[in-house]
Amino acid sequence: MYENIKNVLKKHRQSHLLAFWDQLDAPQRQRLLAQIRRLDLAKIDCWVADYVKKPASEAISSDILPAPFYSLGPSDNKQKRKYTEAVKLGKDLIRKGKVAAFVVAGGQGTRLGFDGPKGDFPISPVKNKTLFQIFAEYIAAASRKYNTVCPWYIMTSPLNRARTEEIFRSNNYYALDEKNVFIFQQGTMPNFSSDGRILLADKANLSCSPDGHGGSLKALYQSGAIEDMKRRGVEFISYFQVDNPLINIFDPLFIGLHALDNAEMSSRAVIKTGPFEKVGNFCLVDGRLTIIEYSDLPDELAEKRSPDGSLTFKLGSIAIHIINRAFAERLNADGFSLPLHRALKKIPHVDERGEPLEPAEPNGVKLESFVFDAVPLASKSIILETLRPEEFAPTKNATGVDSVGTTRKMMVARAASWLESAGLTVPKKPDGSIDCLIEIAPGFALCKEDIKEKLNQIPQINPGDKIYLA
Ligand code: UD1
Repeated sequence: MYENIKNVLKKHRQSHLLAFWDQLDAPQRQRLLAQIRRLDLAKIDCWVADYVKKPASEAISSDILPAPFYSLGPSDNKQKRKYTEAVKLGKDLIRKGKVAAFVVAGGQGTRLGFDGPKGDFPISPVKNKTLFQIFAEYIAAASRKYNTVCPWYIMTSPLNRARTEEIFRSNNYYALDEKNVFIFQQGTMPNFSSDGRILLADKANLSCSPDGHGGSLKALYQSGAIEDMKRRGVEFISYFQVDNPLINIFDPLFIGLHALDNAEMSSRAVIKTGPFEKVGNFCLVDGRLTIIEYSDLPDELAEKRSPDGSLTFKLGSIAIHIINRAFAERLNADGFSLPLHRALKKIPHVDERGEPLEPAEPNGVKLESFVFDAVPLASKSIILETLRPEEFAPTKNATGVDSVGTTRKMMVARAASWLESAGLTVPKKPDGSIDCLIEIAPGFALCKEDIKEKLNQIPQINPGDKIYLA
């Protein structure tokens, strides 16, 4: 076994992985061989040639146009009728248990300065609920509102799976029925030195990283989640990221339009705040709907403007999708693979002497796939606009843009706008900013329309109040 693996590694110029063989004990050797056996070395040779050694990202086709989309408000009477039909269909599909919630939660809270799964980060403005708790309460409230069971699939990375499972167990699944919560983990990719050698984390282990949220489409299949959905009769997967507590997981209009148009994978979009906002960009490339990450969109395209002065590529992807279960199934059955994206990172590893190295500068290459690269593979894909204040508060950083502070402010602002839209008064400071804290639990209202039935449960709000509606 050892000799065989040694020869194979030699053929693929990865012999250094066994450099410390003589220093390893039997269990370490077994574990290392198991890790090496899981590698597809032929595919890795292609990745090294196509991605690791080739820094420049692929040139974008010259045939690139803005993507068509459904604006949030219907544009004419014909579309108004379609939206009414879509909302009705969407509610029907949710009620029939055809829609599942799916959150990608493999990311750690590192950028938040938080050592743990990002979903366990306390974020809500009055009760300091964690992201997981907010999503769980939303799913429980939607299950009650539509008198159905909304299963919840949670993708972790191998690094935070155990901790995530422990968090759910110790919180008693936030009052959800455990059999409707399906926690699974995504795959990993080896990390590479810039000359294409797989890095060793230590003398007995390869250096690996989660394979990106694009890995979710394979992991849904390999974990049995797709099978579980099939058993439940789930047709639509409502995909969202763990960092966005404003997500409207079951949006009847979005689900209904996606279903009416027989789409396989659809997306929500916001109008970008500027050419270089750090979001994905919706475009038609060679006629196919495509999302190009901000880091891959050439400046001249990002800055291009239409005659009315608006950005030509104005639609930003906020990582909210509806994915047909059958589409995810078909992709896996066809043995698909999404394009990989290369990131130059500081990757701790051991050097040729086996000494641990903590690089001060980026020294290695991580490869990951992005779920939105499946959009061009869909037979049909629609985009429905949403409004940032209503649905998109990405919690990425400890301070500054897309931070804990901005998210908390947006959660209060949305709650205030819901109360004001129901005719209530919210105290404001002289500068017009909101002069109180408000938190609306999903069990009290899932959307602004729900507030109208609860007016008699909402107290008078005075300046400086902390209001929690549940
Ligand atoms: C991401 C999108 C960007 C989008 C933005 C919206 C990418 C490359 N870019 O930005 O187009 O506009 O969100 O907020 O995704 N995750 C996993 N496993 C992984 C990697 C990520 O579960 O292997 C999850 C994370 O938990 C997180 C989400 O995917 O919830 C996005 O990851 P993140 O690193 O935050 O993506 P961004 O680059 O910030």
